[in-house]
Amino acid sequence: MSVLVKGGTVVNADRSFRADVLCDDGVIRAVGENQDAPRGAEVVDAGGQYVMPGGIDPHTHMQLPFMGTVASDDFYSGTAAGLAGGTTMIIDFVIPDPQQNLMDAYREWRGWAEKAVADYSFHVAVTWWDESVHKDMGTLVRDHGVNSFKHFMAYKGAIMADDEILVNSFTRAIELGAIVTVHAENGELVYRLQQEIFDKGITGPEGHPLSRPPEVEGEAANRAIRIAEVLGAPLYIVHNSCQQSLEAITRARNEGQRVYGEVLAGHLLLDESVYRHPDFATAAAHVMSPPFRSKGHQAALWRGLQSGNLQTTATDHCCFCADQKAAGKDDFRLIPNGTGGIENRLEVLWHHGVGTGKLTMNEFVKVTSTNTAQIFNIYPRKGSISVGADADIVVWDPEASKTISAKTHHQNVDYNIFEGMTVKGCASHTISNGKIVFADGKLNVERGAGRYVDRPPFATYYDALNTQAQLSEPVPVER
Ligand code: URP
Ligand code: ZN
Ligand code: ZN
Repeated sequence: MSVLVKGGTVVNADRSFRADVLCDDGVIRAVGENQDAPRGAEVVDAGGQYVMPGGIDPHTHMQLPFMGTVASDDFYSGTAAGLAGGTTMIIDFVIPDPQQNLMDAYREWRGWAEKAVADYSFHVAVTWWDESVHKDMGTLVRDHGVNSFKHFMAYKGAIMADDEILVNSFTRAIELGAIVTVHAENGELVYRLQQEIFDKGITGPEGHPLSRPPEVEGEAANRAIRIAEVLGAPLYIVHNSCQQSLEAITRARNEGQRVYGEVLAGHLLLDESVYRHPDFATAAAHVMSPPFRSKGHQAALWRGLQSGNLQTTATDHCCFCADQKAAGKDDFRLIPNGTGGIENRLEVLWHHGVGTGKLTMNEFVKVTSTNTAQIFNIYPRKGSISVGADADIVVWDPEASKTISAKTHHQNVDYNIFEGMTVKGCASHTISNGKIVFADGKLNVERGAGRYVDRPPFATYYDALNTQAQLSEPVPVER
């Protein structure tokens, strides 16, 4: 099956140019002017439009079992919603319960993901430690295409990783050529503040941001950075929401440390006033961690993205409907943490980023796709319009506009955090694995068409030694 995207302007991270893009059998076969459509090919008229690598969302939680319930968007509905907004790949998270065998959890998540309609991969969380975890990390890297491990520094009493776990896991990841990632919030402080605020009689959603101030995030970001520095681990910090964590990342990068930062579309565009909404359901719909911050933090995050100190954008797509959020009606600590957005990330970033001049189109491609592909070692298979890359493409109409609403979105959740926002610039067509899966506002997806994407480990110091040695004689490396 061939698709020819004709007459558009290709926008990659490094440059833009007029070219047709020919896809066949799921792969980009030609990029150049005046391509002929093979017999039977579908032709997408991209005149006046931009042809960009499909978005990669490096942070989603489809059907996550969390806080006594399960996220409402599953791997089918969630990846379909992503395609409707131009996102063609997700990196989700396997999150074992403490004491749960890592391989068992990994297999469980792989089973759930079989219904995905777009490509996917998994970070695996390290939530506890023993010899089996050490061994399973090796198996995951060597045999299962996992090159990133996640650590939740918050959620005490559940999945929180203390410093001992961080040190053990970071050390093991370095041996394996994997990258470590953290959710940076000091879980002990959150626990203490939640109790104090609740005891003062603040029981509603307005208590949520009070219990997770920016300092709590800044402390954890800095601690993870310093642990990674001492051990020599490359580090990726997810969902940076505030100036404090951005400053920690910027300082470390200026010192030459390999630290990367992600920012969520929601943290760039929403502020903490949402938690003071008089309607519980509306306020609770925004409860996620770290919380939305004051406008000053938003401005800092945009600057972080513009300066390159934050490299990726994500959504942390983790949806809960109003009846699920109602579990915390009388106690904000019980509101399931999470918000959606996979369908809207590209369009809100285009509108508020490219549309305002904060980002160039090429920078937009970098922060929505290419940088994630490079950091997680799947470039140029993903994140690039080039010959040999996967045919994951979004055709972008810069003149189209829409008003975002839960009434019309494809996400399986009854609220949209960008409700009522009018954006200019939207996906007109999405091509996933060489097939047109979204066109004229309609999805045409196939359950299970998404593929698991292996992410190979990075070359380690030991690999480099071996490569050098092979020039003379091979040296076996003990790991
Ligand atoms: O509130 C959030 N972010 N829920 C999903 C789990 C996490 O912390 O990423
Ligand atoms: Zn998190
Ligand atoms: Zn998350």
